[in-house]
Amino acid sequence: MKSHDLNATVFETASQAKDALERHKTAGQAPTAASANLPDAPTGTFGEMAEDLSHILDTSHFFLTGERDAGHVVECLVLQLHDLRSECTPEVWKALIPMAQAHPIRERLMADPFTRRSFEKPRGYSGDGVLLDLLYRHPAAKAEVDASSKMGRDIYAHTSISESSCAVQERREILARYVDKAATRRPGAEILTVASGHLREAEFSAALAKQKLSRWVALDQDEANLAVVAKEFAGTVVAPVSGSIKGLMMQQYDLGSFDLVYSAGVYDYLPFEIAVALTRRLLDSVHPGGTLLFGNFSTEVVPDGYMETFMNWSLIFRDQAQMRDIVDAATADTEAQAELFFGQNRHIIYAQITKAA
Ligand SMILES: C[S@@+](CC[C@H](N)C(=O)[O-])C[C@H]1O[C@@H](n2cnc3c(N)ncnc32)[C@H](O)[C@@H]1O
Repeated sequence: MKSHDLNATVFETASQAKDALERHKTAGQAPTAASANLPDAPTGTFGEMAEDLSHILDTSHFFLTGERDAGHVVECLVLQLHDLRSECTPEVWKALIPMAQAHPIRERLMADPFTRRSFEKPRGYSGDGVLLDLLYRHPAAKAEVDASSKMGRDIYAHTSISESSCAVQERREILARYVDKAATRRPGAEILTVASGHLREAEFSAALAKQKLSRWVALDQDEANLAVVAKEFAGTVVAPVSGSIKGLMMQQYDLGSFDLVYSAGVYDYLPFEIAVALTRRLLDSVHPGGTLLFGNFSTEVVPDGYMETFMNWSLIFRDQAQMRDIVDAATADTEAQAELFFGQNRHIIYAQITKAA
């Protein structure tokens, strides 16, 4: 999984920075999750789209009830929902979501522990550490998968290797490589992870294993996630810190500064202005010469329709221009170099900002 740098676009933040906020002011509003992922002007009326949705769901339900491989049926369903979503205006798609969720197929899809946890949100949000462990096919999730029905395991066999799941699995390795690079640049490097979840990428870090880091702060708002981090990384330099994005932006924590600051899995929830403010704040906590990295699901996500309906999980998908706008606006007064790159299957886009030494 090396090709994440093949699509890199390097740009000078200084020359482009000034326009970004202006563009957003004149455009009126930051893009919504739905509009961001709809490249062509969709024309389907609500009636037409509702009929198509019913047909897709009835057919998938029929096959799920039969002897067919449930994973394959869900794979087709994911593609059909993606196509349907792209034919809908954001308003029509929004109106279709409750219809999909009320269809009897939902009950069957809930056999998949990954889909079910996201839909039910036992901690009030979809992407908690336990859900991410299911996505990572991490050993910590094995008991729950084993306890699922055959249909649940068959569906999970697909959903846990869907394009978006693979992109997040790859993300762990990308993040660990950044940590290791920071330790190579400066032995005893200091790392800050914002919205750490269970910090599973740390399991891939040679620098952590070889004790090349002096501290690794894992900040998250969810105490249950942090309890897992504390247990799994006890005796290492990993330090769980209870904190929120809001607290970070209000400078409520005295964390010092870092060689590498990164965040993955949280920008997808942040509107443009907050994403810019957070990026500025995080850049402030990067040492001169250090790096800030953040990722966001791209507008090319294929399971978007499935996530928004049967996983009840809506994100803000962003394209290169939208990521660049965040970077430009956040670095307007900073001497920094920025680079955007996609992960291998283009489902996640990353922004890397290197502060001048
Ligand atoms: C999708 S998970 C990503 C976890 C981890 N970074 C990973 O890649 O596996 C999102 C994480 O963001 C955290 N989070 C969400 N909103 C937050 C906020 N406002 N402040 C701090 N953490 C937040 C959640 O608790 C959760 O652990």
